[in-house]
Amino acid sequence: MSRTSHYMFLLVLTLYHGYSVTSSNVPVVNAFERFDVTIMDAEIENLVVHVSSKDSDLGNKTMNVKTKFDWKFRMAIGDSTVFRGQFFWMNPDNSVANQLQFNVFDKNVAAQCGQNIIIERKCFWLVNKIGFYFARDEPKNMKLMYRWS
Ligand SMILES: *[C@@H]1O[C@H](CO)[C@@H](O)[C@H](O)[C@H]1NC(C)=O
Repeated sequence: MSRTSHYMFLLVLTLYHGYSVTSSNVPVVNAFERFDVTIMDAEIENLVVHVSSKDSDLGNKTMNVKTKFDWKFRMAIGDSTVFRGQFFWMNPDNSVANQLQFNVFDKNVAAQCGQNIIIERKCFWLVNKIGFYFARDEPKNMKLMYRWS
């Protein structure tokens, strides 16, 4: 590896680390759990995703094939944070072809997310033309949870 590419590699790592360091001061006795929820678009050319909770609105995200976005948050043990997801499968002319909404995170989903107490607990939603698939820890062996209506 040349000196330059080595440097670039470190730079990328540093930037990424900087992004995810926001909630590192979690006590060992975890009064908080940290979650990282990722939504992945596997197949849909023009998918608008709107995630919101009681306290925060992540806004409309326009996604296309192979894009993903994730958000991280901390939740006090015993709390019941709910993030609602609205999904709009858009036509090329930007009219809505199909839509569905469901809780992309709530206590039932939380119970199925990865169980790592050291780092954040991961949950993945993958969207394709059939529906919405869930997995924990990594986006593998995904299970169909909802179909487009
Ligand atoms: C998000 O996109 C949907 C689908 O196009 C639209 O109905 C909704 O009004 C948009 N919301 C905002 C806040 O822009």
